Amino acid sequence: MILDKSMPIGFMDSGLGGISVLKEAVKLMPEENFLYYGDSANVPYGNKKREEIKRLTFHVVDILLAQGIKGLAIACNTATSAAVKDLRIMYPDLPLVGIEPAIKPAIEQSRGGRILVMATPMTIRQEKFRHLLEQYGEGHEVVSVPCDGLVGFVESFMFDQDLLDVYFRKNLGPFVTDNTESIVLGCTHYPFLKENIRQYLKTEHGREDIALLDGSYGTARELRRRLAEKDLLKSNTGWEGHVEILNSSSDTEMVEKSYELLNRP
Ligand code: DGL
Repeated sequence: MILDKSMPIGFMDSGLGGISVLKEAVKLMPEENFLYYGDSANVPYGNKKREEIKRLTFHVVDILLAQGIKGLAIACNTATSAAVKDLRIMYPDLPLVGIEPAIKPAIEQSRGGRILVMATPMTIRQEKFRHLLEQYGEGHEVVSVPCDGLVGFVESFMFDQDLLDVYFRKNLGPFVTDNTESIVLGCTHYPFLKENIRQYLKTEHGREDIALLDGSYGTARELRRRLAEKDLLKSNTGWEGHVEILNSSSDTEMVEKSYELLNRP
């Protein structure tokens, strides 16, 4: 496998969600070029079987590798839990990071209250998730909130507060207690709903103090560390890198929407 400083860094997700991680990576490594592949033709991954998610993830990784990348971020919690272990075996030389729900940071800053973890049903079912809970969750009240269908709001650019409130009332509300202190956004699509979640918590629960956490910054930092370790980062070129976005959907607007999310303040 040829890895060269001049190559872009690959990113993949089941759709638009991984843009939330890409955003952090662009901020951290502005000189780098990035190649992002969103598999919106097959979204959501979160209610598919593990073997199917693996097959889809391997296919996307093949496409990115064929274009030539020097590192890879699996910017999807669901694909990470299903496929990252195999990918590490398949490509031992490739700097590779996955993303997992930010349970550790939530526990590190815990004041003893309830921690909710919003994620896809698939992520919650996986062994990797159970390990995370076993590793860090002991002595803490960490509660999983399976969010079937929430990814669809982001994919279809449905940010209407009233519609989302209906979803949150049914799927999130029952888990929010007086002692809830933080919510982990355990799917890369959810950071794009941060303001909607905040608004919902404020109006329906009178809570403005619940912290919303996600793993995008940590993942971008880990990616930079792994590239630096192999001396694959560009060094002070003074040039700004560029981002190329590909999407498997036949809807050509998905690429436009991706750039819009990337450039959203
Ligand atoms: N963005 C993905 C994640 O982080 C999953 C979305 C999906 O269900 O496709 O889990």
